[in-house]
Amino acid sequence: MTRELPATTESPFAPSSPFAASIASLFSTTLIVCAIIGVGVTVAIAYSLVRFRARPDGDEPPQVDGNRKIEIVWTLIPIAIVTWLFVMSIETMARSDPPADRAPDLVIVGHQWWWEARYPSGLVTANEIHIPTGQPLLVRLEAADVIHDFWVPQLARKMDAVPGHPNFFWISADTPGVYGGACAEYCGAQHAWMRIQVDADEPAAFVAWQAQELAPASAPLAGSPARGESVFRDQACGNCHAIAGRGFDRHIAPDLTHLASRNTLGAGVAENTPAELAAWLRDPQAIKPGSKMPDFKLSDANVDDLAAYLGALR
Ligand code: CUA
Repeated sequence: MTRELPATTESPFAPSSPFAASIASLFSTTLIVCAIIGVGVTVAIAYSLVRFRARPDGDEPPQVDGNRKIEIVWTLIPIAIVTWLFVMSIETMARSDPPADRAPDLVIVGHQWWWEARYPSGLVTANEIHIPTGQPLLVRLEAADVIHDFWVPQLARKMDAVPGHPNFFWISADTPGVYGGACAEYCGAQHAWMRIQVDADEPAAFVAWQAQELAPASAPLAGSPARGESVFRDQACGNCHAIAGRGFDRHIAPDLTHLASRNTLGAGVAENTPAELAAWLRDPQAIKPGSKMPDFKLSDANVDDLAAYLGALR
């Protein structure tokens, strides 16, 4: 089964934050410097090969043995270039990774194979991380199981998520939009489906999003959705998943309180449509083999009711 990646740009060469911009600028400068050196060396070698190649008449070029001036010059020039690149790297490190000088604005936890985001407001969500534009946020990055790596190239530096050793980095977005990213450290079977979506909202829109996501889930409508909640309870889905306001508060797997407000399922593996949600519930292992969500062998009626219940969690 081939699946389309979410339509997001994620080139490190299109930075949208001061942190990412400083890294992109260092990369471009280094690339240009190295390209000039590479072209210069290649041209000099090519010229020498042609100009001084062995000729039938045995005409040898003059043999030079040692020249202090030239040696000093071709030692000093590389030292100057390397020193310049070193100083620029130090400056970039300071700009892209300033000291973590306050309590984190956001806690992100890498799990096999999804991302949990916790806000100081108490909001917990998964995989689709909203941030307000124009505001640097300090992120505390953790891992629940193995080493992951959080990388949203347009917004922040790359950072390892190490179990038992929180790391800190800054993230921000200059303009509203959806920024893609992915786990950048091999972490097991579904490493490739550990995608990240950062939604940068205008500050007012972010406040509205946060308020909506903080609200507990409302009671399901009678009929299929209500039956779906019974299936959710009976099948012990609540042993791993939280649905705030409905008596489910375990945070081992993604929080589902507002599942229907998210764009994708399974950390980007499928679009969040009723058909895909039902397919996921019918057999998650068919869509994301190795996923920690087992195939519960639900009946078609149970799948429909559960999809109706979860699909209404806006
Ligand atoms: Cu998580 Cu690779």
